[in-house]
Amino acid sequence: MSIDYSQKIPNNVHLDENKTLQRALEHWQPAYIDWWNEMGPEKSQTTDVYLRTAVSVDPKGWAHFEHVKMPDYRWGIFLTPQEENKKISFGAHKGEDVWQEVPGEYRSTLRRIIVTQGDTEPASVEQQRHLGLTCPSLYDMRNLFQVNVEEGRHLWAMVYLLHAHFGRDGREEGEALLERRSGDADNPRILTAFNEKTPDWLSFFMFTFITDRDGKYQLAALAESGFDPLARTCKFMLTEEAHHLFVGESGIARIIQRTCDVMNQHKTDDPAKLRGLGVIDLPTIQKYLNFHFSVTSDLYGSEISSNAATFYTNGLKGRFEETKIGDDHKLDNGEYPVMEVVGDQVVTKHVQALSALNERLRDDWVTDVQLAIDRWNKIPEKAGIPMKFTLPHKGFHRKIGFFAGAHVSPDGKVLSEAEWTHKHLNWLPSDEDRLYVHSLMGRVTEPGKFANWIAAPSRGINNQPVDFDYVRFN
Ligand SMILES: [Fe+2]
Ligand SMILES: [Fe+2]
Repeated sequence: MSIDYSQKIPNNVHLDENKTLQRALEHWQPAYIDWWNEMGPEKSQTTDVYLRTAVSVDPKGWAHFEHVKMPDYRWGIFLTPQEENKKISFGAHKGEDVWQEVPGEYRSTLRRIIVTQGDTEPASVEQQRHLGLTCPSLYDMRNLFQVNVEEGRHLWAMVYLLHAHFGRDGREEGEALLERRSGDADNPRILTAFNEKTPDWLSFFMFTFITDRDGKYQLAALAESGFDPLARTCKFMLTEEAHHLFVGESGIARIIQRTCDVMNQHKTDDPAKLRGLGVIDLPTIQKYLNFHFSVTSDLYGSEISSNAATFYTNGLKGRFEETKIGDDHKLDNGEYPVMEVVGDQVVTKHVQALSALNERLRDDWVTDVQLAIDRWNKIPEKAGIPMKFTLPHKGFHRKIGFFAGAHVSPDGKVLSEAEWTHKHLNWLPSDEDRLYVHSLMGRVTEPGKFANWIAAPSRGINNQPVDFDYVRFN
C-alpha cells in the first residue's frame, strides 16, 4: 500500500484507474488550494516548514519529513489496506460482509455523517489561522502548521468518499465544504464548537488536547463502520491524529512546567504576582480546561439519542473499540447509566444501552482526558506544589442534552440562576483572564528560543534538536 506520488493527487486507491473520479477530484483540487490560500495560516504562503508527509499507510515508518511551503504540501488520499473477508462487527447486519459501496437505504444518513465529520477539518484550520503570528517558538509554529496541513488532508479524506460514493450530491457537498466559514454569520460551520474562536495559544493547546480528542473518538467509532471505505479512511486519519493530541497535551504540560518553575523560583502562588512575572497562573489554566471540556462535551450530542441508536443498528457507526467489547454487539438489551437534573439534584438513571451511545462515547473520551490530566498533575507534584487539575462535572456549563438549561457547578451541585451568575467567573475564563493570556502572545522566531510563559520541549521533532530551524522565512 505505498503511495503514488507521481500523480497530481497522491493516493493509494488507484485513482488513475477511475478517470471520472480522478477528473472530478482534480477539478476540486484548485478550489481547495484557493480555500487554503484564503483561509489557511495567515502570512505563511512562502514559509518553508519542516513537515511530515505520509509515504505509506504502515503505522511503522509512514512519515517523511522535509521543509516544504504549505501550499505545495502533497495533500492526498490514503486509506488503510482492505482486509479480506471483513465482516460487520455490530448492529442488525452483524456477521455480513462489509460494504464496499453505499447501501441505498443508508445513503443520505452516511452522507450526513461524512459531511459533518468533514466540516470540522477545514473549520479548525480557519479557527487557528491567526496563531502563526503569535507563536511562542519555531518548534510550536511548526507543530501548528503540521496540524493545519493534516486537518486539510482530513478534508481530502472525506471529500474523496463523497466524490467516490455519492455522485453529484457528493460533489456538491464537496464544494459546500469549501464555502462554509468558521464563525460566519450567514454560512457557518455545522457544529457550534467549530465556530468558536481559537484566539491564543493556551486555547489552541486546549483545543488540540480536548477537541481533537473528540475527533479521535468520533473517528474511532467510524473506523468500525460497516461501510468499509469510511472505516479504512478513518483508520489512517487516526494515525495522523495522534500527533495533534501530543501537541495539545505536551503544550499544556510545558505551560504548567514553566509556571511551576517560576512559582518555586519566586516562592509564590499569588496569581497577581505570577502574572506580573509573565506566566500563566495555574487557576487560569484550570478555567480554560473547564471551558474547553464543557464546550467539547456538547459535541457528543444528547445523552439519549435515537439517531445514534439508528446509526449503530444500521452498522454505520460503532462504539469505541467495538470488537474488544464483550457483549452481543447488538444491544438488544443491556442498560447504561446517564445523569440528569431532577429538581435541585443530579441523579443517575439507567436507560437502554442502545439509546445511550452518545453518552457512552463521551464517557470513553472523559476517561482518556482524565488519564492525560493525571499525567499533568505529576508536574506540580514533582515541584512540590499542592495543586491538582480536575475535570469539572459532566453537567457543568452544558448547552446540549439533559444539562442544557440547568446550572451545575464543577463539583456537581445544581445552582440557581443567581448563584451561577455570582460564581461562574471563578470557573470559566473572565474577559480579564482572556485579556491577560492574550497580552502574553508575542512572536518568537529565533531557533531554540521560547516565550517566557512556556518551557522548552524535552526533545525536538523527528530527532531534530530543539533549536533546529523548523520554520524558515523567505
Ligand atoms: Fe482532523
Ligand atoms: Fe486533528
